[in-house]
Amino acid sequence: MRVNLAGWSSPGVIAALMQLTLLVLCSAQSNNSNTRFPDGFLFGAATAAYQIEGGWNEDGKGESIWDHTMHTQPNFTADGQNGDVACDSYHLYKEDVRLLKEMGVDFYRFSISWPRILPTGEANNINQAGIDYYNNLINELLDNGIQPMITIYHWDLPQWLQELGGWVNPIIADYFEDYARVVFENFGDRVKWWFTINEPTQIVRGYSEADADAPALNKSGVGNYLAGHNLLIAHARAYHLYDNEYRSIQKGKIGLVLESSWYEPLTNSSEDAEASERAMQFCLGLHAHPIFSTDGDYPPIVRELLDKKSEAEGRPRSRLPYFSKDMVEYIQGTADFFAINYYTSGLVTFGETESHTAWEMDSGVRTSSDPSWPSSGAPWLKVVPWGLRKLINWIHKNYNSPTIIITENGMADTGNLDDAGRVYYHTSHLAELLNAVYEDGCKVAGYCVWSLLDNFQWSAGYTQVFGVYQVNFTDPARTRTAKASAKAMADIIRTRELPTDLEK
Ligand code: NOJ
Repeated sequence: MRVNLAGWSSPGVIAALMQLTLLVLCSAQSNNSNTRFPDGFLFGAATAAYQIEGGWNEDGKGESIWDHTMHTQPNFTADGQNGDVACDSYHLYKEDVRLLKEMGVDFYRFSISWPRILPTGEANNINQAGIDYYNNLINELLDNGIQPMITIYHWDLPQWLQELGGWVNPIIADYFEDYARVVFENFGDRVKWWFTINEPTQIVRGYSEADADAPALNKSGVGNYLAGHNLLIAHARAYHLYDNEYRSIQKGKIGLVLESSWYEPLTNSSEDAEASERAMQFCLGLHAHPIFSTDGDYPPIVRELLDKKSEAEGRPRSRLPYFSKDMVEYIQGTADFFAINYYTSGLVTFGETESHTAWEMDSGVRTSSDPSWPSSGAPWLKVVPWGLRKLINWIHKNYNSPTIIITENGMADTGNLDDAGRVYYHTSHLAELLNAVYEDGCKVAGYCVWSLLDNFQWSAGYTQVFGVYQVNFTDPARTRTAKASAKAMADIIRTRELPTDLEK
């Protein structure tokens, strides 16, 4: 059966240059086997600055909230380790590009460290060595035919700005816009894909759970919603800046990266179906609805519940801040695509939760997992490939069939080179992605492996290993070695076809 492709064009000149015509499959028809990737489908691998770069105080870099937390609370991570050196990509970026080329990826998704280019976070003091580093990386990628996709903020806020309140101070949106301007000015001539912010859902945990993420504040149920509110405004400011001043010249695309598990009803009761919808709205809808929905603003169920709860708690105002009508409109539509990270799924029902994550406590849903789901090297990550298909469909249905890009998908293990579990993880998720495309008519433009390298896994230190390339952290040279999964991904990318013998 012939596959029906509809065009989704990237800016002409650059797209031609990079041979990345962004064609998106948007057919509800099935091909014969559902194993072939549509023409123009993009494959990539991802990392983030603090997780791989090291060079934490080199060449004028400022301190980030992760540097600060690691140095003031050395036991914050599971193994007492930090990202001071990590994969040493600050020095070994050419080696990273070589690996990307070996895998044959179309793009590399990496992040810029805000304090590496603006040591205090303020744009009055630009660190040229930081600009040079990212220029060198971008140029090396382009010389090797790899498209850079840049995350502007992947969690390493300048500590100087944190001391002004960080993401709970509304002034942060000004600083973020200033930072975004520096980034567009310096790199936008060559970078055509921008993600303003990675995973607001995780960032806000840094303001509500003392052991989750930097800045490690314990202001549960308040700090997280304030931070999320300002993250959305800051994102929209960067989007409009790009749209108004850079898009017509630089001709790129811009959005943000959201994250969600799929929340499957525990039973087929209507209550559990409602719990599933509630969980999706609290987890994904909280930050997606203001941008992607037809009405804008926070999801009505989240607004209603948090207003009621706040009143019952005797508070003079809702814990979930309000946007003005103008701000609702300003935020609406500020993404050129729907970028989503997916790792795992949960079963949900109404009931008391053991989780300390604010949205889970506020939503009134209890999450569990099915004992039959394969486990991984991270307790929170069960292997549930079909959850990706359901998540893609939920986004397709709720947000008017946007073009979706899977910006992260990956599995933790203990780091073996023969990582058959990871090979299965990626291939089975890709199979479900193709089902969403061919069987369900969803538009999916690309897939990005998390991660290119074994790296610093935040509060888990180096105990949860995600790379398709192994990094030897006891070797000062930080030697990289391909795992079976890197080779399997290289085959898929080269043939643009999934192997048909997927084995667990
Ligand atoms: C999401 C984050 O973007 C990334 O930094 C992290 O390492 C992976 N998920 C795995 O937890």
